[in-house]
Amino acid sequence: MNFQNIIMKKRNGLELDDNEIRFFIKGYTDGEIPDYQVSALLMAVYFNGLNKRETLSLTKEMLFSGETVDLSAIEGIKVDKHSTGGVGDTTSMIVAPLVASCGVPVAKMSGRGLGHTGGTIDKLESIPGFKVELSIENFIKQVKQHKLALIGQTGNLAPADKKLYALRDVTATVENISLIASSIMSKKLAAGSDAIVLDVKIGHGAFMQTLDEAVELAKTMVEIGNGMNRNVVALVTNMDQPLGFAIGNALEVKEALQVLGGEGPSDLKELCLRLAVEMISIGLKIDSASARKKAEESLGSGKALAKFLDFIEAQGGDADYLKNPSKLPSSSKTIDVISPETGYIKAINALELGLCAMSLGAGRETKESKLDYASGILLNAKNGDFIVKGQTLATMHLSDSLKYDPDIESRVAGSFEIVPDKTDSSTKLILARVCESATDFY
Ligand code: URA
Ligand code: CA
Repeated sequence: MNFQNIIMKKRNGLELDDNEIRFFIKGYTDGEIPDYQVSALLMAVYFNGLNKRETLSLTKEMLFSGETVDLSAIEGIKVDKHSTGGVGDTTSMIVAPLVASCGVPVAKMSGRGLGHTGGTIDKLESIPGFKVELSIENFIKQVKQHKLALIGQTGNLAPADKKLYALRDVTATVENISLIASSIMSKKLAAGSDAIVLDVKIGHGAFMQTLDEAVELAKTMVEIGNGMNRNVVALVTNMDQPLGFAIGNALEVKEALQVLGGEGPSDLKELCLRLAVEMISIGLKIDSASARKKAEESLGSGKALAKFLDFIEAQGGDADYLKNPSKLPSSSKTIDVISPETGYIKAINALELGLCAMSLGAGRETKESKLDYASGILLNAKNGDFIVKGQTLATMHLSDSLKYDPDIESRVAGSFEIVPDKTDSSTKLILARVCESATDFY
């Protein structure tokens, strides 16, 4: 087979057959096909797309390009959760123990943060002692014993995607629905769960800017899952403001503790409940009303919080810090960001705030950047709120070790869109739900 012909076929808008897609992924993973040829193919795919069969075929090839995790030794339906990348998105840290506390085994593989999006692993590592370097064997043992374990992405999971994603990143070929869907799903499928609940974000900083595109991405991932005999459900959710109030690692752990204790910001709590309901109803084969009841009871009774502490301890973390959250890393210097005008908050640019939090030390500019767990941004106002000139919009928590760039203050202030008249403050959090049989809009 000749790779040049494969590029030409896609450039001319033709379909690639399964053998051609296999030749592409195998050849690229093995280093036999060079980056420059793959770049040309990616650009052809960007413009001409992949149909359902090609997308499923690409996902399968990437999925089987490396190791896959076998979770069959764990009893029950294993349900995973994935978000397409939020800002201040504290959900995984809350949803995983919440779902586990209701009896559904959660074997979670998470990533570290890069750029404006945070990673669950970084957040949890702000708890002294917590470790994610478990062997697969111990990971499975812990899920059996505690219903919940979390590891970092192991080196050899979907290596084809790792290589391709890095190339897409520098060739302006990330934003294609088939490429995003196959990339996410190849990793999720390799991680071995029976079912996957997806949180597909729309808005500033999300891959998809419109509801139509986000629903299309959600449908594509649901179809891939079904093509692989996995139950996949996707919620399409709004990111026209960060979730909750906290952006930053230890700040978000504290926020997670509030929600797990039955309190905390209402938008974050509601999204966590909705994601948990999907996972619990699949995992326990119950209807969503019963799943909602279980999840709410677990938050109200302290069961979810107890499961979080149990899980943190099982992975070496010191639960004392969670019983006394004031002991968690906290910043010795804070700056209040003041509102320059009076009015109603219409939108909060989550992407910009994510980037500001990153510059304060809460995120990584490059893979090598060091984090300051205490740093970040705590919002003081959200969409729909009335704010008077001079009131605090947000508080920046500065790093003790990083040099502070004074421009960040005006960037944080500028992230808040303030309008004179009351706007429709009922920002819808969940816009659509996609499953195999239906797409519902809310
Ligand atoms: N996340 C991924 O893992 N892959 C993409 O292509 C986009 C987001
Ligand atoms: Ca948050």
